[in-house]
Amino acid sequence: TRVAVVFGGRSAEHAISCVSAGSVLAALDPERYDVVPVGITRDGRWVLHDGKALAIDAGQLPEVTDGTAVCLVGDPAGRGLAVLDAGQAIGRLTAVDVVFPVLHGAYGEDGTIQGLLEMSGLPYVGSGVFASAASMDKEFTKKLLSAAGIPQGDHVVLRDAAGALSADPELLDATARERLGLPVFVKPSRAGSSIGITKVTDWAQFPAAVATAAAVDPKVVVEAAVPGREVECGVLARPGSPVPDTSLPAEIRLRPGTDWYDFDAKYLADAVEFDVPADLTPAQTAAVQEMSRRAYLAMDCRGLARVDFFLSTDPATGADRLVVNEVNTMPGFTPISMFPRMWAASGVSYPELVDRLVRSALD
Ligand code: DAL
Ligand code: MG
Repeated sequence: TRVAVVFGGRSAEHAISCVSAGSVLAALDPERYDVVPVGITRDGRWVLHDGKALAIDAGQLPEVTDGTAVCLVGDPAGRGLAVLDAGQAIGRLTAVDVVFPVLHGAYGEDGTIQGLLEMSGLPYVGSGVFASAASMDKEFTKKLLSAAGIPQGDHVVLRDAAGALSADPELLDATARERLGLPVFVKPSRAGSSIGITKVTDWAQFPAAVATAAAVDPKVVVEAAVPGREVECGVLARPGSPVPDTSLPAEIRLRPGTDWYDFDAKYLADAVEFDVPADLTPAQTAAVQEMSRRAYLAMDCRGLARVDFFLSTDPATGADRLVVNEVNTMPGFTPISMFPRMWAASGVSYPELVDRLVRSALD
């Protein structure tokens, strides 16, 4: 089976995708798979890659730079990757059986490459066009999850936030500010790895926070802070079944001095502790798993997802409250990422996980 592992890309999560791909490439059994690493540069060129140097090295993030240009060919007579000779004439065709788009964020996790692969008739790992697009967009994730009865944090959507910013420096009226309270998290609607997000603790910071988010996505979501523990759960398609499996949940605990789980805390600084599995009661574990399964099905996901939660306890009743923060259709696969670690803790090793994903794409 020949697998094209595609990574990098045009999104702000380019480097994280490279690191994820490094781990996926290392986990694909060479006895079983003939692997073709394909990098996408930041400006969108597809190139053959040697699959090397895809790690964070002394704080330096990896990047796809250059290489032999390739393009995707969806001709029924021969689907795969064509090597371009000097970027012009189509040369040799490398037939590909399945594509693993290890891409995070825009042009990868948002339904765009999924559409390209559907058009090309090539099987691929993970969610289809709709689930990818809807899960990438925080506004529509919240709408669809709410419709399925899954609790969401309070929020306000600012459309065309860059335009609105110049028109109205206040942006949110006093009623909305009062309702959301402080702090709020100001987020680009379609992004990942906490890129473009600001925690606002004083409304004076708000216009700058909106501008930061709007630089990533003109649609901005302002979320009320949800108090509670940060818990995540992995969902994985089960061969031959419409109902997926769920992993043991994990918890992210911020070390003292770390304010919130931002990009640096995620990947660069030694700022968080991961409990894999999370220290939860059996009932809490079951509730997280059940809600993860429901979220995956509500979003129409396929193959895999990581569902992120806030878990709090009502001080009056002592009852647990679970709020879904988001659904990631191509969660991080970096060596410290939660998705593969939660599966390892649940008895599915990294190579088995990757194998199951590739096989599920071919089902
Ligand atoms: N967006 C990053 C890669 C994650 O969710 O893990
Ligand atoms: Mg995310």
